[in-house]
Amino acid sequence: MKLQFITSNPGKVREAREYLEPLGVEVKQVHFEYPEIQADTLEEVAEYGAKWLSERIEGPFFLDDSGLFIESLRGFPGVYSAYVYKTLGVWGILKLLEGVSDRRAYFKSVVAYWDGALHTFEGRVDGEITSEPLGSDGFGFDPIFRPSGFEKTFAEMTTEEKNMISHRGHALEAFAKWLKENLK
Ligand code: IMP
Repeated sequence: MKLQFITSNPGKVREAREYLEPLGVEVKQVHFEYPEIQADTLEEVAEYGAKWLSERIEGPFFLDDSGLFIESLRGFPGVYSAYVYKTLGVWGILKLLEGVSDRRAYFKSVVAYWDGALHTFEGRVDGEITSEPLGSDGFGFDPIFRPSGFEKTFAEMTTEEKNMISHRGHALEAFAKWLKENLK
């Protein structure tokens, strides 16, 4: 079976393949810009995007909407993570947190799958923002996010290591489990 993953992010595709290929699912990356509405939650952004795409794309597809939520910034950048990454980047976040001792943060991911109906799967990982970027793997805010209980940032981990604990890993795991049960 072939599933379209609507994303321009090759890092997300690499992570999705780790979960779905063992099920015999071929993940095909499709570049298709869709509106990311301004909303308070990732769920709303993902659901709107999936419904909008369902009127324009043939066959089953999924997308992932995710974000970094920093406790001392009251959840910022959250739903605006992609924009903030593009404009401020990791150094901008480090600057905002200069002198701040509460470094707690979490990543959250919502995978929305469309097969004629909408199914959503969520994952979250807690951790902290480092004081400097560390590591060169991964993407986005990976170099400044260290998950709780680990010595390494996401950017210092392999895709496999990151997937085992990451927000997207948890959402993809739930998605893969659902596919296994529903695609018999
Ligand atoms: P979107 O889900 O494509 O809207 O993007 C969310 C933004 O959050 C991305 O541009 C990244 O900067 C950031 N992000 C989401 N997931 C991750 C991750 O696993 N590692 C690092 N940054 C992430």
